[in-house]
Amino acid sequence: MNESPFEWDLASNDYLQQIGPRLTRDYAGDLIERMNLSPECSVLEVAAGTGELTIEMAVRAKTILATDISDEMLGALQGRLQKRRINNVLTSKMSGELLDCASSSFDRAVCMFGIMLFEAPIKGLQELRRVLRPTGRAVISVWSTPDHFEMMQLFASAVAGLCPDQKPLDLTKNPAFTLSDSAKLKRLMKEAGFSNICIDTVSHLKNFASVDELWSILISATPPLFWFLEGIGIEHHNELKRRLHDQCLSKFVRFPLQLSSEALIISADA
Ligand SMILES: C[S@@+](CC[C@H](N)C(=O)[O-])C[C@H]1O[C@@H](n2cnc3c(N)ncnc32)[C@H](O)[C@@H]1O
Repeated sequence: MNESPFEWDLASNDYLQQIGPRLTRDYAGDLIERMNLSPECSVLEVAAGTGELTIEMAVRAKTILATDISDEMLGALQGRLQKRRINNVLTSKMSGELLDCASSSFDRAVCMFGIMLFEAPIKGLQELRRVLRPTGRAVISVWSTPDHFEMMQLFASAVAGLCPDQKPLDLTKNPAFTLSDSAKLKRLMKEAGFSNICIDTVSHLKNFASVDELWSILISATPPLFWFLEGIGIEHHNELKRRLHDQCLSKFVRFPLQLSSEALIISADA
């Protein structure tokens, strides 16, 4: 899957307000832990989005080049950097599959929840390795399998059977899960030339006080979430929200819900 930059442009506000804080922010520390950052490090970040990882790295690194394919996502990130008076981060629009960066020019290369969305993830991995100095290190995260992502399971079961001609959703086909197989991921990392490849699984729990909090995520324009609503007309939204509420109560009895999501975090030497 390769969503166009335009689709991510449309998602930038939802991402800034909802998706980053609720789905990806908790993992930034897990990536940083594995980066061995020092104040001398130059870092390339690919698919930086609205900067959940960028902002956490900024105080620990010398310089960061934060890149993304979407202007609007980078615009939102720039706004956050200005607000915090962070001045060691540059942003630049570029595809992670074809980086406009010199070879062997960074100490660290990172990508949080981006590479599985690329049309050819192997190209993204090869590019990350190309731009690293021989002593460099890459750290990447992707989502683990759908059975370890409770929110996505709730969304899929709420959508199932909603309309008479609705085909059952196969969560493994959601773009968020295209690199959930750790053996495949390790093979790709090796093919890209990395060594000392280590893959950990990390889970976080997030609280949801009401169905409204989940609903605002489901209807966000973020491509892997919009995937659930493709082909579902707005006239079905009230019924879908009611079904989502029922699914929440049948699986978890009462609100607030604590939903877990699991990621694979890959660290490797160039
Ligand atoms: C799920 S968001 C992750 C954002 C951020 N890293 C985070 O974890 O919150 C995926 C990001 O990948 C970007 N993206 C998608 N395809 C890309 C590509 N081929 N090259 C660079 N960025 C891409 C999108 O614009 C979006 O900002």
